Amino acid sequence: MYLFKRRADLKKHLDLVRKSHKSIGFVPTMGALHNGHLSLIQAAKKENDIAICSIFVNPTQFNDPKDFEKYPITIDEDIKKLNHISTDILFLPSVEEMYPEGLETAQTYDFGSLETILEGKFRPGHFQGVGRIVHKLLDIVEPNQLFMGQKDLQQCLIVRRLLSLIHSPVKLVVCPTEREPDGLAMSSRNTRLSPASRQKAVGIYQALLSIKNNFGKDLHFLENAHDAFDQLKKQGFEPEYVDILQLEDGQLKQLDQPPGNATVVAAIAAWLDGVRLIDNMIIQGNI
Ligand code: PAF
Repeated sequence: MYLFKRRADLKKHLDLVRKSHKSIGFVPTMGALHNGHLSLIQAAKKENDIAICSIFVNPTQFNDPKDFEKYPITIDEDIKKLNHISTDILFLPSVEEMYPEGLETAQTYDFGSLETILEGKFRPGHFQGVGRIVHKLLDIVEPNQLFMGQKDLQQCLIVRRLLSLIHSPVKLVVCPTEREPDGLAMSSRNTRLSPASRQKAVGIYQALLSIKNNFGKDLHFLENAHDAFDQLKKQGFEPEYVDILQLEDGQLKQLDQPPGNATVVAAIAAWLDGVRLIDNMIIQGNI
C-alpha cells in the first residue's frame, strides 16, 4: 500500500493512475477503522481498478471540542487492517495540509432543510464541516466513485447534494450499514462503551426494528416514534431524537401524513454512558 501525507504527492501519483485509464474508488474516513469501513473499501476495490482510503479526523465538523479530543485514533492498527485487505493507497494528511488557509471560513454550502433536522439540529455547523472536507478531498483525489455507509444516511444525502452543488461527475455509492451479530451498527464510537453499555447499546437497533414492524399497523407513526423514545429512556438512554421521515427530492421531511409509496426512514440519536450513538433504518422504498 502506498502512503501519502502530502496532497501534491498524492495528486501526482493519481494523475499517473488516470493516465493509465484506471478507475479510482474512494473511501473517506476519520480512522479507528472497523469492518464497516473495510466493507466500503472492499466495495470500492471490487468496482474500481484501485481503492484509496483517507484517514483524517476533521476538526471543522466537530461542534463539540470534547468529542474531537476523545475521537479514537488507532493509526497503526488501521494501517494493518488496510494492508490486510490490500488497499492500494492511504492518504493521511495533517490539519495544516488540509487547511493551509486556517480553520475559519466564510464559505457556506446551501444544503437546504437537510442541515436543520436530525444531526443538523443537534450538531450545528457539523454538515458545513463535512461538506468542506469532502469537497477538498474530492478535489485532490478526483475519484470515479465515492463510497459511503448508510449508517450516516443524512451525511450521504448531504454529500449527494454537495456533488450536485459543485457539479461533480463523481458517483456516490451508498453501501448498507454493517452490524455486529446482535444488530448494533458498527461505529468507531462503540469502542468507548463500557462492556455493560455495549450490551445495552443494541436497544437502538431494536427500537428501529420495532418502528419498522409497527409501521402501517394500527399505531399512528408519530405514536410509534414516541413509544420508541420512551422505551429508550426506560432502558437508560438519553435520546436526542427518534424520527420517522420521508425522503423527497433529496431532502428528509418530517412525516405528517401517510407517505404513500415514498421512501420512509426511521432515525435515532441517543446518548448512552457519555457516548453519542446514531442509527437509521429504511422502513419502505430505497435511497
Ligand atoms: O463519516 C466520516 O467519517 C466523516 O464525516 C467523513 C465523511 C470522513 C468526513 O470527515
